[in-house]
Amino acid sequence: MSHVVSGQQVHADHGGVVPELAGRAHQRNIAPVVDAALHEAGVSLKHIEGIAFTQGPGLPASLHVGVAFARSLALTHELPLYPVHHIQAHVLSQFIEEEAPPFPFLCTVASGGHTLLVLMRSFTDMEVIGRTLDDAAGEAFDKCARMLGLPYPGGKQLDERAKEGDPEAFPFPQAKVEGYNMSFSGLKTAVRYKIQEFGAKGDDLPTDTHRDLCASVQRAICGHLIGKVKKAIRGKGPASIGLAGGVAANSELRDSIRQLGQNHELPVRIPPFEYCTDNAAMIGVSAHFLQQEQPGTEQELVPLPRAPFPSKRKEEEKLA
Ligand code: KG4
Ligand code: ZN
Repeated sequence: MSHVVSGQQVHADHGGVVPELAGRAHQRNIAPVVDAALHEAGVSLKHIEGIAFTQGPGLPASLHVGVAFARSLALTHELPLYPVHHIQAHVLSQFIEEEAPPFPFLCTVASGGHTLLVLMRSFTDMEVIGRTLDDAAGEAFDKCARMLGLPYPGGKQLDERAKEGDPEAFPFPQAKVEGYNMSFSGLKTAVRYKIQEFGAKGDDLPTDTHRDLCASVQRAICGHLIGKVKKAIRGKGPASIGLAGGVAANSELRDSIRQLGQNHELPVRIPPFEYCTDNAAMIGVSAHFLQQEQPGTEQELVPLPRAPFPSKRKEEEKLA
């Protein structure tokens, strides 16, 4: 009924997330954001039937604020609580506005902290079939963007600069990783050496070279991800494919997934931009879908900063 997000300028000011500052910014913003969401929806707390919140994974300082706030609201208004897994919510962000795609649905989840391939057989049956072994795709975007002199988080700006560059100008090597797993940590070293070859700092590079580097970095990250998606289409035979997480806002990744869908005649699901990056609508919609299996609770829930993905099957058995 409403959708309110409070961005955190504090991260850009510090060139990255400082956990303690992120926690304090959450503390300042959470009550006004909840008020704004209720106002926009034209409802008051007495109309609310339950409180969904992010239990993890994430930064402890930030999770604590959300958990404490959700618990106090639930206690004072006698409402059930719905703990939600952050990454599972990214997968379910597909369905904030759209109907379910044909299952199994193969979802690439790429954010600043996580990169996974998830095979979804129903709203509640998800299996992780592959994941990054080191950096997340968003982290790779942000680290390379930083070397190229772009402000944090640099993924979006890199994407914009890449539009005018040549993605084949600098063919960065792609990691060779078994199965559907991925690796992005080698890329930043390759990019650092390439920048050094020009004898300049990232932001002093000639405009054309800078654009070409942005486009080539983007190609390397998207190419690696898309290669694994192609492999999973062959190996797992999904009935539909899609993207989720902050990196799903990336224009090349969106275009490549759409193209892949066309080539394989598979329906494609990609959330609108506003539901790709972190938002609370995806947390609410997850509680809605998961409540059949996980009824609301009055338990004293705590944050789970390292919560494992609620995979229905053991991924070790399934890795190709
Ligand atoms: O899901 P998200 O909002 O937060 C986490 O849970 O991490 O993802 C944030 C990540 C950042 O690394 C950001 O640079 C990346 O998503 N991102 C992008 C784009 N927009 C956001 N990466 C590439 N291209 C974009 N257009
Ligand atoms: Zn996220």
